[in-house]
Amino acid sequence: MTKQEFDKYIKNVDESKKELAASWAIGIGLQQVDRLNVSEYLLDLAKRNIEGEISIAEVKRLIDEYYDKRCPSRKYRYRSTYTRIPNDSKLCYTRLRGTKMKNIPYIDLHCHLDGSITLDIARKLAALQNIELPADDAELEAKLSVPESCESLNEFLECFALPCSLMQTIEGITESVHLVQEKMKGQGIAYLELRFAPQKHCDKGLTQKQVIDAALAGLKMSDLHTNLILCLMRDKGNEKENMETIELAKEYLVKDGGVVAVDLAGAEALFPTADFASPFAKAKEYGIPFTIHAGEADGAGSVHTALDFGAKRIGHGVRTKEDTALLEYIIKNQIPLEMCPNSNRQTKSVDDMSKYPIWEYLAKGVKVTINTDDPAICRTTIAKEFKYLEDKFGITAADEKIMLLNATDAAFTDAATKAALKKAIESAF
Ligand code: ADE
Ligand code: ZN
Repeated sequence: MTKQEFDKYIKNVDESKKELAASWAIGIGLQQVDRLNVSEYLLDLAKRNIEGEISIAEVKRLIDEYYDKRCPSRKYRYRSTYTRIPNDSKLCYTRLRGTKMKNIPYIDLHCHLDGSITLDIARKLAALQNIELPADDAELEAKLSVPESCESLNEFLECFALPCSLMQTIEGITESVHLVQEKMKGQGIAYLELRFAPQKHCDKGLTQKQVIDAALAGLKMSDLHTNLILCLMRDKGNEKENMETIELAKEYLVKDGGVVAVDLAGAEALFPTADFASPFAKAKEYGIPFTIHAGEADGAGSVHTALDFGAKRIGHGVRTKEDTALLEYIIKNQIPLEMCPNSNRQTKSVDDMSKYPIWEYLAKGVKVTINTDDPAICRTTIAKEFKYLEDKFGITAADEKIMLLNATDAAFTDAATKAALKKAIESAF
């Protein structure tokens, strides 16, 4: 039963029966009034309890079984709490989640600049450069975000044409980096790794070097702690451009406060990871850390190849589980996965989101991190990504803390930054 279905259902439940709904409070989310924030299985149990089908004791037993199955390791073991419904019949749900949660220092390690151009940012960039955009907001918004009907990553990637066209000049690039950082800061991000492919910003004659310089100028305009990742592109005939990006990454590489790594983005199903051995051999030779989009639109073999190249992290990696030995490898070697749930839902990286392997990965000890991928294209924010996981899968505050600590470990930054982030996370939870 989905949350929407449950909301509809509960409206028609007799007030006298609502006391039974105390069972919903077992183990779920932050303190809320008249608002449910639970996974679909638990909503089913709540309904069965209200209908008199199962007792509260049985609900508790099934919930414990549910968590035990998904979280066999002690670290994730669920401890149930029980909250009574106040007499005024307002529904109240409490669990292990304090009021400090408001200032969570979110970390986004996987965020594309061209996927972060929201309607307001697009209008500012267009005005700055005298570019005409559709006057109607709804029409423009539709051009800047993915349609619900999206069937694949290939289709998803078509949405990037318009935002890219607004970032073909030095001022367009500088200002976009600045505005995206400010937006992310406003959404609670404490540390951001922003990625872009310099070669996608050369349509009007800029060189890749000018593009990187323009982005670095933008970086200085915001006080949000941000590092840059330079993307190579999956394509044919752009070998020279990809190699140039590697050479520039070598030239610009710093431990923090600028270019910190490289990546491979684009259509994974059309251009297999194996075709990009040369640039990543160079990156390895130069000691440039890299992550690679893999196991998103292609299978576990793609993740395997990325790790063979020497990737330190994997972008998405949702399909890693298709190969048990590979899954064991990434657990043993603590290879971080940059997971992006709503993007994965929209690109149909998994055909059925109820099978999204978030619990499986967490329970087995995979180093999962949660990210936005393309906040404007996906119409998301980092807080919405966590909320989605809470609603759909019953992910808890304790899980969220673990994923943020994972992101700190995985970040391409220096030890001092990691220590400061860890301290902020510890005090938030
Ligand atoms: N570029 C922007 N978003 C991407 C994604 N999810 N996969 C590959 N390339 C991308
Ligand atoms: Zn991505």
